Amino acid sequence: MNSATALLYLSSAVLFIYGLKLLSSPRSARRGNLIAGAGMLLAVVVTLVDGDIVDWWAVVVGIAVGGLLGGVAAIRVKMTEMPQMVAAFNGFGGAASALVAASEFVRIDGDLLEIETAVTILLSLLIGAVTFSGSFIAFGKLQGLITGRPITYPGRQAVNAVLLAVIVGFSAWGIIDPVALPFWVVVGVALLLGILMVIPIGGADMPVVISLLNSFSGLAASAAGFVIENTALIIGGALVGAAGFILTMLMCDAMNRSLWNVIVGGFGGADSTGAGPQSAEGKPVKSATAADVAIALGYATKVVIVPGYGLAVAQAQHACAKLAKELEERGVDVTYAIHPVAGRMPGHMNVLLAEADVPYDKLRDLEQSNPEFPRTDVSLILGANDVVNPSARDDATSPIYGMPILDVDRSANVVVVKRSLSPGFAGIDNPLFYEDNTMMFFADAKKALEDVVSALADV
Ligand code: TAP
Repeated sequence: MNSATALLYLSSAVLFIYGLKLLSSPRSARRGNLIAGAGMLLAVVVTLVDGDIVDWWAVVVGIAVGGLLGGVAAIRVKMTEMPQMVAAFNGFGGAASALVAASEFVRIDGDLLEIETAVTILLSLLIGAVTFSGSFIAFGKLQGLITGRPITYPGRQAVNAVLLAVIVGFSAWGIIDPVALPFWVVVGVALLLGILMVIPIGGADMPVVISLLNSFSGLAASAAGFVIENTALIIGGALVGAAGFILTMLMCDAMNRSLWNVIVGGFGGADSTGAGPQSAEGKPVKSATAADVAIALGYATKVVIVPGYGLAVAQAQHACAKLAKELEERGVDVTYAIHPVAGRMPGHMNVLLAEADVPYDKLRDLEQSNPEFPRTDVSLILGANDVVNPSARDDATSPIYGMPILDVDRSANVVVVKRSLSPGFAGIDNPLFYEDNTMMFFADAKKALEDVVSALADV
């Protein structure tokens, strides 16, 4: 690699890092995305100019087909389907790294394969294959192609341990004697391991799994970078690996669960999307109408809106912004309390509200919101459930005990908008619904908000 190429690769790495830094705030995130994208374009151009391009047509067709598919997917994907799109892209990333490593293995004559190259090829094949099959299982669960419930079977840890041992054994064989067989066995077993690692994990834990697989896809790319001695790939892959891992740990922290607890699986089998009305085990709830809610909100001084997964499902962000605007015009102070894992992916609620032009300075995180609830007249819960479940705070026997929650029950009045008494992702009942100061407005979030806006005209 000549020094000009090295310098340009370094520049692209600087752009990646600066882009990542800007991604840490929603205000600068778009710019960060563009800058990191420019860094990637620079790296691709330098590689094409610097490398021995075998067939320019293949490169042009690849960019055209990939660009078209990626562009169409990005335009057409719904906000609620974003996690599965990320899963699919991670899977392709893992497969691409594994294919780069495989082609290098095929290109180099086995006898000439140095030990370091054999190790990096095996690492790239292994991590790339696990990422590919694991990501597509995650995609299938989120897309509803396979059940979102954890699929468990006795002895699965032992089976995984045996598969890992097979991978280690065949990798050692491949390093000592680089014939084709052990390499392809590692690929096959790694594909199986990816599937078996993800199937026991509940559909709703998929965002954590996807973030972890995203981290794996970065590591696979980094290993592929070592195989073909490409600095930009090594650095870019390492950044994705580290960023994905940090995000994974942040999500686990926000749910007060260990990564091991998520990976072992079996948690959160309940699927809230298609749930019908459920019995409240005889406990009475106060049902409210749009008019009741309009009165409560219209005469309030301070309202805190708590968005959750149901808001995203109902695509009610615009109706929500409209209601907030109407209330503000009446002099009501309206803010939004955003729980770090509200919804089904990191930043889900922020992106959704930004789409409806909700000013960013109206959004409060968990630490800022909780001291405000005792001074709040009405907390309006829109399709959120687990993130406002007081048993996470008060009931040591609850499966979500210890998960930080928004203390909405400490506000003067609570209005919960959801379609039924069905549980959320964690599959557990929510005592908030039966509190004296809670009104339940059973409706689709979008329809409910539109009706409240109409009813507000008469208040
Ligand atoms: P959930 O606890 O899943 O509750 C969502 C509620 O929305 C459901 O109870 C459902 O009740 C309601 N809903 C569904 N469709 C609706 C519609 N069209 N209109 C109105 N309501 C609707 O959501 P949450 O409070 O946002 O909590 C998120 C959960 O996901 C947490 O348990 C969290 O740990 C987990 N999780 C999140 C992440 C990230 S990063 N966000 C990652 C992993 C896990 P009905 O069926 O009665 O309407």
